[in-house]
Formats: sequence, C-alpha cells, structure tokens
Amino acid sequence: MTKIGKPALIINFKVYREVEGCDALELARVCEEVGREFGVRIAVCPPMTELGSVARAVGLPVLSQNVDPRAPGSSTGWVTPSMVRSAGAAGSLINHSEHRIQPRSIEECVDLCKGSELITVICADTVKMSSQVAAFRPDFVAVEPPELIGGDVSVTTANPRIVENTVEAVKSVSHGTSVLCGAGIKTGKDVRTALDLGADGVLLASGVVKSKDPRSALQDLVAYL
Ligand code: G3P
Repeated sequence: MTKIGKPALIINFKVYREVEGCDALELARVCEEVGREFGVRIAVCPPMTELGSVARAVGLPVLSQNVDPRAPGSSTGWVTPSMVRSAGAAGSLINHSEHRIQPRSIEECVDLCKGSELITVICADTVKMSSQVAAFRPDFVAVEPPELIGGDVSVTTANPRIVENTVEAVKSVSHGTSVLCGAGIKTGKDVRTALDLGADGVLLASGVVKSKDPRSALQDLVAYL
C-alpha cells in the first residue's frame, strides 16, 4: 500500500468537469511530477469512475472519494471497501461533507476499510463531530466547515480555532489519528498556517482542480512544507 506522506496533502478531484475521463489521470500525473520535484508524496482522490485507471498508472496514494458499508456480494451499485482495494486504491474518504452518511455507517465503513487494509480519512464539519468520529480510530479526521468549501477564504484564516480545537479534541480521543483541515485552502501560506495550527496536513480541491494552472497551484501549495 502506498502510504500518505506527512505532512499530508490530499487533493480531492470531486466530480468537477475538469477531471472527467482521461483528464483525471492527467491531473494525477501532474501531482506526481510536482511531488517528485519537491520530495512530497501528494495523495489524490479521483472520481469513482477513474479510480482504478488512476491507481494503476501513478505511484501516488490514490483514495476513493467514498465507500459504502457493504461487503462483497449482492449489493448492486454500492461501492465496497474490498472492491476499492482491488482497484488499487490505498484508502478512502468517508462521510465527506458532500456525501454524508449515518454515524453507524461511518463506523461500519471504517471497520470494513481496516479489514481491507485501506487508509481511512473521515470528514467532519465541527470539533464535536471530529471528536465523535475519532472514537472509530481512523487514520485521519479531516475537519471542513461546509460554508467555506469551494470558497476563496481558507479555514485557516476564517476559523483557525476550529483547526486547533479539532487537533486537541481528536488527539485526546485517539492519539494515533492524524488531523487534516480543509475548505478554501488555496496557497502554500494556507498550508503552512494549517501545520502551524497543529494539523498534520490538508485536504483540498478547487484550489488545484479549478485552477487555470494546476501545476503552479501545486508548486505553491508544497513550497512551505
Ligand atoms: O474535500 C476537500 C473539500 O471539501 C474542500 O474543497 O474546494 O474548498 O478546497 P475546497
């Protein structure tokens, strides 16, 4: 399994038009090249339809954007952790703000992912929720205030306390769980601030995927690591 580096930089491609079809692999290759240039292992979350082709083609940690709490079997259309692993992914986001699931399902997903040796990244929108999901002992909790997602103001500027408080809350529940923050992160300075606030890395999307020049955006993002 390709591990996620520390500090962690995870680029969620979401389902933006810019990453449909072969364009997902093209962006993943840019992430790989910039990572090599700067000695950083960037992780990517391509759209589900491109997961296998990206995972097989790049030497990066590739994460699924979602898994469902289902074991292999007769579950048409669901995405099992086992099939994500077989597609070559290293892990999965769980409970992203744009793909919320019930707390019981979060726990089931984490357990199934662990059974398939997948890295688990649970998203949460508050300190309280971060602390609750930390009890499932995931590898990462990513705190993202929904109102800042996709915007131009970074969580590290708009709400630095949520980052600091999440780090404290998560570590007190599960010492081995790393904390990410996300929402509005666009620059290397934002990433530096996140790390200075105690985060182990960042989860971001539009700053790279929607950028006119993703390579330059990535080069700036990793510049202060
Ligand atoms: O998964 C990352 C995400 O929700 C943050 O998105 O566009 O604000 O970086 P963005």
